[in-house]
Amino acid sequence: MTTATINRISKSPVTGKEYEIPSVLDDKAGIDAFIALHPGKKVVVVQGLGFVGSVMGLVVANALTEEYAVIGIDLPTPASYWKIRSINEGVFPIIASDPKIDLYYQQALTKKNYYATYDSHAYSKADVVVVDINLDVQKKSAKNNDLEGYDVDLTPFKKAIEAIGSNCKEEVLVLVETTVPPGTAQKIVRPLLEECLTKRGLTTDKLKVGHSYERVMPGPKYIDSIQNFYRVFAGTDEKSAEAVERFLRTVIRTDEYPLTRLGNTNATEMAKVLENSFRAMNIAFMVEWSRFAEEAGVDIYEVVNAIRMRPTHKNIMLPGLGVGGYCLTKDPLLASWARMNLFGSEEKLGQSEKGVHINDKMPLYAFEYLQSQYTGSLAGKKVLLLGVSYLNDVGDTRYTPVEGFYDQLINAGCEITLHDPHVKYWEEKDIWINQNLEELLEDECDVVVVTTGHKDYRSNESLINTLLSKPAAFMYDTIGVWTKDEIKALGEKHMVKVLGRGDL
Ligand SMILES: NC(=O)c1ccc[n+]([C@@H]2O[C@H](COP(=O)([O-])OP(=O)(O)OC[C@H]3O[C@@H](n4cnc5c(N)ncnc54)[C@H](O)[C@@H]3O)[C@@H](O)[C@H]2O)c1
Repeated sequence: MTTATINRISKSPVTGKEYEIPSVLDDKAGIDAFIALHPGKKVVVVQGLGFVGSVMGLVVANALTEEYAVIGIDLPTPASYWKIRSINEGVFPIIASDPKIDLYYQQALTKKNYYATYDSHAYSKADVVVVDINLDVQKKSAKNNDLEGYDVDLTPFKKAIEAIGSNCKEEVLVLVETTVPPGTAQKIVRPLLEECLTKRGLTTDKLKVGHSYERVMPGPKYIDSIQNFYRVFAGTDEKSAEAVERFLRTVIRTDEYPLTRLGNTNATEMAKVLENSFRAMNIAFMVEWSRFAEEAGVDIYEVVNAIRMRPTHKNIMLPGLGVGGYCLTKDPLLASWARMNLFGSEEKLGQSEKGVHINDKMPLYAFEYLQSQYTGSLAGKKVLLLGVSYLNDVGDTRYTPVEGFYDQLINAGCEITLHDPHVKYWEEKDIWINQNLEELLEDECDVVVVTTGHKDYRSNESLINTLLSKPAAFMYDTIGVWTKDEIKALGEKHMVKVLGRGDL
């Protein structure tokens, strides 16, 4: 196979099926045929078929008070083309434990009202475009994950907005849901769209641009986290705000979860990144306290659980392997970047940036702790990692802290086996995962590490009994899933260590 051929293949991590990306990218006939199936219906185009967009598309296809024709659009790249084909072939591109995903997808298949494409012609049909694409922060991580700096390149995001502006109707509503640097809707999206419309000889006074955010929670309540949850929104002007509100009312259960309208889009954009920065800081704050607890022979879990009894401190975080996922690892940086680059401040958001830096180093610390507690060299040792996903009970490996920990083990010469009940294929590492834990535990290993807090590893008597039946090894819980009794039982046979617990 030539490189050119390889680069035109897009492989689904859900089914393993490979798709060849067409050399001629024209899907006008497909889009027109889909629109012809739905005369009189409003057309909603969702830009970006990732973790947020593909499910947002489902929610709109199953809207509460309106029948929409939904077109999901993504890029014809090896990383994303398979999502388009998958949606049109009857396989939803996300593995999720939420049964509503399958229900909503089956309903959309029956109604034939959710079509996916790569062709920008779709924007010309849209009454509403929902922007759910990624906007990444480029971290310049040096050796050992020590962050030296970062950059925000808006070029791909601007290109996506230009694709809309070069094709859309002049009265379209563009609703940005992507997490953006505060200021983006006012200072970037609206001017770019106006420029494109003007170039096409169209007017700009009917254009509507808004921003809205939610906390999408991939997992058992995936759909509900979009449809049955509080939303914050704003428009770049009064008629935009009204149009956003009208649209959201048709897809979200606003009678139970009232919408919150803020004064302008700078405020909604700030609310989103402030919310995530608060969580990231809360975790970073616990890092030094975990180290203190280890040194002082204190069980940090016991301490935090005692504090959490008080209503004023319920959301104090617990220690862990690190912070992963797409949002908390970048959103404080997006905010800081915006302060300096979109609002001309000479000061960054220093505390928020430092929080991200501290969190990025957590996997390295977890590895160093293992090294310091393990007698002898780790080179050549068989290590079983329980969990690859960054979050418990979810199959999402983006920026998972397990990756940093895994890399350190590889550098140390360990032989690693991976298990995760929710991840079949670890895309970032190009590794297929054995999901049969019993089978994996038949082999002997020197070190077993709990790296994700999946419920499969919590209060699992049979797992503890199996571990007890194995020859003496090193058991390392980086998340705090094992109870005191389990630690005691395992400790009779094995060396047991828990991150943040100094009393073992
Ligand atoms: N995951 C969450 O819980 C969550 C919650 C709220 C908001 N967000 C935000 O939503 C946005 C999307 O997140 P995600 O998790 O779905 O990301 P993702 O990486 O899973 O998906 C983004 C998709 O957009 C596509 N894309 C990029 N450029 C495009 C273009 N020009 N045209 C069409 N498609 C394009 C990509 O190919 C990809 O499939 C991010 O800004 C994220 O911060 C995420």
